[in-house]
This record gives sequence, structure tokens and C-alpha cells, in this order.
Amino acid sequence: MVGEAVAPAKARRVAGAAAGARTPRRLAEIEGDAEARLALPIEEFSRVLGGGIVPASVVLVGGEPGIGKSTLLLQVAVQMAHQGPVLYVSGEESERQIKARAQRLFGSQGLPGDLFLLSETDMDAIVQHLETLHPVLAVIDSIQTVYLPEVESSAGSITQVRDCAARLQAVAKAGGSAIFLVGHVTKEGAIAGPRVLEHIVDTVLYLEGDPFHAYRLLRSVKNRFGATSEVGVFEMGAGGMTEVLNPSEAFLAERVVNAPGSAIAVTMEGTRPLLVEIQGLTSPTSFGHPRRTGNGVDLNRLLLTIAVLTRRVGLKLAEQDAFVNVVGGLRIEEPAADLAIAAAIASSYWDRPLPADTVLIGEVGLSGELRAVGQLPARLREAARLGFRRAILPSSTRLERGGAEGLAAIEARSVREALSLVLPSGQSAVTE
Ligand code: TYD
Ligand code: MG
Repeated sequence: MVGEAVAPAKARRVAGAAAGARTPRRLAEIEGDAEARLALPIEEFSRVLGGGIVPASVVLVGGEPGIGKSTLLLQVAVQMAHQGPVLYVSGEESERQIKARAQRLFGSQGLPGDLFLLSETDMDAIVQHLETLHPVLAVIDSIQTVYLPEVESSAGSITQVRDCAARLQAVAKAGGSAIFLVGHVTKEGAIAGPRVLEHIVDTVLYLEGDPFHAYRLLRSVKNRFGATSEVGVFEMGAGGMTEVLNPSEAFLAERVVNAPGSAIAVTMEGTRPLLVEIQGLTSPTSFGHPRRTGNGVDLNRLLLTIAVLTRRVGLKLAEQDAFVNVVGGLRIEEPAADLAIAAAIASSYWDRPLPADTVLIGEVGLSGELRAVGQLPARLREAARLGFRRAILPSSTRLERGGAEGLAAIEARSVREALSLVLPSGQSAVTE
């Protein structure tokens, strides 16, 4: 429960929203075609936005503290300042600190003259600067540190966060500047965090990743100007956030071929297929309940997969702890990775490696059947591109003949059948 102060009615009216100021117009009378977008030379970011920055739009970039939001947006600000004035407002760092960071990332020669820094938290002052400077892009870092003086609650409260965002939305629409808001999300569930303003802004992006790994995923969860669930992949390093243009290669880079317990899944992140290594490990339970731990996979899907392996394939997992890990700190939500999870566990249980040239695709149902997955051609092309020769797929999938070049598509009706294809010796141990 969060207390919320009631603001006087007139303070609540957002600038530019005077009653009766607008009349309905015919669709055909409205000028302009598709929004002209500003090119953003950071390819991975640009694609997530739907192909560049839409002027007069408000984009929320959320993420846990320390994940790299300020770093990434400073890089965006520097790039965009080659096209026009950019205002970077920080309520967390001093102008000197931001400059030091920018210099470290770009060197002093690489910094464009049109990048303006402002250390300010008072929204009235920020809005004034936005209106005089007319930047092509403004970054507000973060929405939790700025406040409207006329609203009587402290910065970071629901009321402040929501009203500040609404005010900035109005400023963006009136002035034509694109505005990026940084929003901190905390693990404990952010009450006054970005969630409360998802409906106010045009686009919501989340920057996620395991802080102990270098990879960061920029994911779009709402976009009025493009497809959602697009993903951009970055790597955090000494030079800031670098784009990972071939994420599958990066995620498979450390793979040990022919090690038991390693399976390759092909997951879709938006429209983009991504090959990831899934590791499984089973080990005898020493006492009490067997433990099940999933890193980067949904625990419920892991439990379901283990139950199917126990009941439909005959693995004696009731006395085994089972651990599953997605390599590289990625989180897989998609059921299409079920078969790879099952294979990783079975491979570890039987202590036999899976064939190194094979990817596993398929959702596992409760009867142990393999269920069809979407966007199969894209998945197969990506697997073929990375040199994989075989793909195990659900047989219900209606494939265009041949799948992808150089890749044999092998159909299986059930998990049991799939495992007998990739782990024949283990399977025979079960049937004996
Ligand atoms: P930051 O962008 O400040 O995170 P956020 O704004 O999301 O809170 O990033 C902070 C972390 O990033 C910090 O722990 C150090 C690390 N980092 C690098 O590894 N390389 C770099 O070049 C920079 C600038 C930061
Ligand atoms: Mg920050």
C-alpha cells in the first residue's frame, strides 16, 4: 500500500491540454506520412526502437541500478549530438562526472560540440531549458530523481514519477524533441518505478542482464512505433557498451564440444533467432527433497520438463538434484527451448554428450509429446549459418521442404523419440 497525496485539480492539468483546443479532423486531411525518424548509428539500439528515433516521442529505458542505462544513453546522446543539439539531464551525477565518463568512452576529440549537460532535478527548470534549447534528443536520468515543485510529494513517489512523465510527454509532443527517460527498477518490485508510467510513454525498453556477465539485452516491451519484443544485444566492457551484432556466435563462444549436459537451443528474441547453450547437471540427492535450480529458465517449465523426463522417458530423477543454466546470463521465456532443456538434463544423467552439430527445438507437452513452435524457418537458417548440420524438430511442424540449406531437419513425435535420436546409447539403457 502506498499513500498518495491528492493534488489540487488545476495542478493536474497537463500543459497544452486546454479544454476545447482541438477539434476532430478527417484522417485524409491530416498532413504528413509515416514519421520521419532520426537515424541512430547504434544499430542494435535503433532496431529495438523500430528503426531510429521518432521525433516528439517519449521512450522509457528501465533497468536495475548499475546495469548500464546511463552508460548506454550517454553513448546515444553523443552519437545524436552529431545531428543536432542534445540535452543530457542528470539528477544523479554532476556535469563534471558525466564529462569524465564521456571522455573515457570517446576520448576528448570524439565529443561533439552540441552535447549539453545539465545537473538538475527541478522539472520547471528542466522544461524551461528544453523549450529554449529545442534539442533533437533529451535524456532525463533518472525519472525518479526529478520533481515538480507544485506536487507535494517527494521525488520518486508514484505521483511525482507519473506527473513528471506526463509533463515531459506534453513537452515532447509540443516541442518535437525526443525524450528518453531512465527509470530504475529494483528486484523487490518497483512500486514507484517505471511500471506506473508504461502507459504514459510511447515506448518502453528494458535493459537486462546478469550483472556478473558482460552481456546486456535491450528489450522492447511496448512500442507505439514498431514491433515489440525486439532485442538488442550489447556487451559491457571498459569502453562502455559495445554492440554484439552476432549474438549467437558470442553466446556459443565458450562452449565445450562433446561435454555431457550441454544442449543447443534456438530461441526467438522478437524477430531474431538466437542460439544459446543450455547446460544441465544432475547429481544424486544427499538427503531430503531433490533440488531443482534453473538459471535463466522458467522454474515451472523446468519442473514440468523434469516430470516428463521421469514419467515419459523413465529417468529416475526423483533421487537426483537437477540444475539448469543458460550460458551467458540470458533469460529464456520461450517454451521452444523445452526440448533442449530436457536433452541437457538427460545428457548429464546418462553422462553422454549430445552430438555437437545438432540443435534441439520443440515445446514439451504433458504427455511427453513435442509441440510445434513458431518461426521455424528463421530458426533453422540461423542454425545453418552457424554451421549446425542437424535440427531435431516436432513432427507436427509443417515445414517448407528441406528446411535450411546444409541442415537436415529430423522430426520427432515425442521427447522420448527425440532423445533416442540424439542419445541412442542412453535410451537403450532405459528400455533394458
Ligand atoms: P551505469 O551506466 O552507471 O548503470 P545505471 O545507469 O544503469 O545505474 O553503469 C554502471 C556500471 O557499469 C558500473 O558498475 C561500471 C560499469 N561500467 C563499465 O563496465 N564500463 C564502462 O565503460 C562504464 C562507463 C561503466
Ligand atoms: Mg545511472
